Amino acid sequence: MRPEGQPSGVIQKAVSSPYSRIRDVLAISEFSNGPAPRQDQCTTESSAPSPDSKTDPIRVAVAGLGTVGAALVRAIEDDPRFELTAVLVRDPARARAVKPKIAPITDAAAFAASEADIFVDALSSDEVGLAVSRAVLARGKSLASASKRVIDAEYVALAQLARDHGAQLRFSAAVGGGAPVLETVAEARSAGNIARIDAVLNGTLNYLLHEIERGTDFQSALETAQAAGLAEADPTNDLSGADATAKSRIVAAEAFGHAPDDYPVMVEPLTPARAAEIAASGVRYVQACVIKPTCATVSLVPADGFAGDVPDGEGNVATIALEGGQRFSCHGPGAGGEPTAEAIMGDLRAIAAELAR
Ligand SMILES: NC(=O)c1ccc[n+]([C@@H]2O[C@H](COP(=O)([O-])OP(=O)(O)OC[C@H]3O[C@@H](n4cnc5c(N)ncnc54)[C@H](OP(=O)(O)O)[C@@H]3O)[C@@H](O)[C@H]2O)c1
Repeated sequence: MRPEGQPSGVIQKAVSSPYSRIRDVLAISEFSNGPAPRQDQCTTESSAPSPDSKTDPIRVAVAGLGTVGAALVRAIEDDPRFELTAVLVRDPARARAVKPKIAPITDAAAFAASEADIFVDALSSDEVGLAVSRAVLARGKSLASASKRVIDAEYVALAQLARDHGAQLRFSAAVGGGAPVLETVAEARSAGNIARIDAVLNGTLNYLLHEIERGTDFQSALETAQAAGLAEADPTNDLSGADATAKSRIVAAEAFGHAPDDYPVMVEPLTPARAAEIAASGVRYVQACVIKPTCATVSLVPADGFAGDVPDGEGNVATIALEGGQRFSCHGPGAGGEPTAEAIMGDLRAIAAELAR
């Protein structure tokens, strides 16, 4: 991936974890010219209040207690910088591995009106997620959203609402899961004009295509992905390419300033027939998102034709090329409760740092 003979710099995005570990290197920037930055110069840590500071904890209300919400609640309850103030669910009687210290509620309006500094949308319901998102931003409360569908559909309106009411809106987890795709896009954009982005943005599809290459049949691979929480019970959004389309539009909005609904994406679905063709080829395929200033394509291509490292399993990756030739890339786990909760924790720390100013 790196042009031969040219230096590469490694930027470590150190994300402190409630599980007392540092997440792996997630952002690798490759420079086609100029000196590589020293690793210690590039290691970044959020400037959110430290655990032993005397400030009051930041109050966080979490909508959703599923794969992502449960991992997030555990992380918040383990982090003295934050205090969990409300949890919204659909069915409070449901058996759960994670039981928050406070009782979950089911009234979305009461949740959105509750006292908190930051609200999180980790819901599977787009309708309720949008209603909560609008309501809290209109109160001037900051929002961290994991929902690519809500952000894709309402990007402009929610951003405007946040601006109008002095709230912060962050959605790192909506694209890339644990891979800091939007952070890397922002970093690249601050360095120059972006020419194109080559990315794998759907962890479920990448897992399926990896399994197909390893000889697993499509249906078994799908069932394993569902059992592992990597694919939803209804995998239509992943298989149709709708998920990668929404993420590509959000990336394009951040990279090029387009409104997502004004940005064309051509998409190729993974049908059982196409999966059979790919299996018969014996070749590793990827779902490649090629995101350019005027349009994007989401298509199934042989991995050796993909302009970037091919991630294993549910991994995500993005390589961002500037007009001047400089390249930035990042990778990380694209799905799963813990990595996604880590991305949201990053948003919470960033919002907290702004609130503390
Ligand atoms: N899973 C991942 O790897 C991943 C990665 C990145 C982003 N995301 C995004 O994160 C969000 C959550 O995903 P997930 O995998 O955690 O989903 P999930 O496991 O299905 O959990 C969804 C949660 O939403 C709650 N909910 C659904 N409808 C509701 C309603 N009408 N009122 C109140 N609560 C409601 C559910 O309540 P009950 O528990 O009572 O059923 C559940 O707690 C989605 O937007 C998803 O796209 C997920």
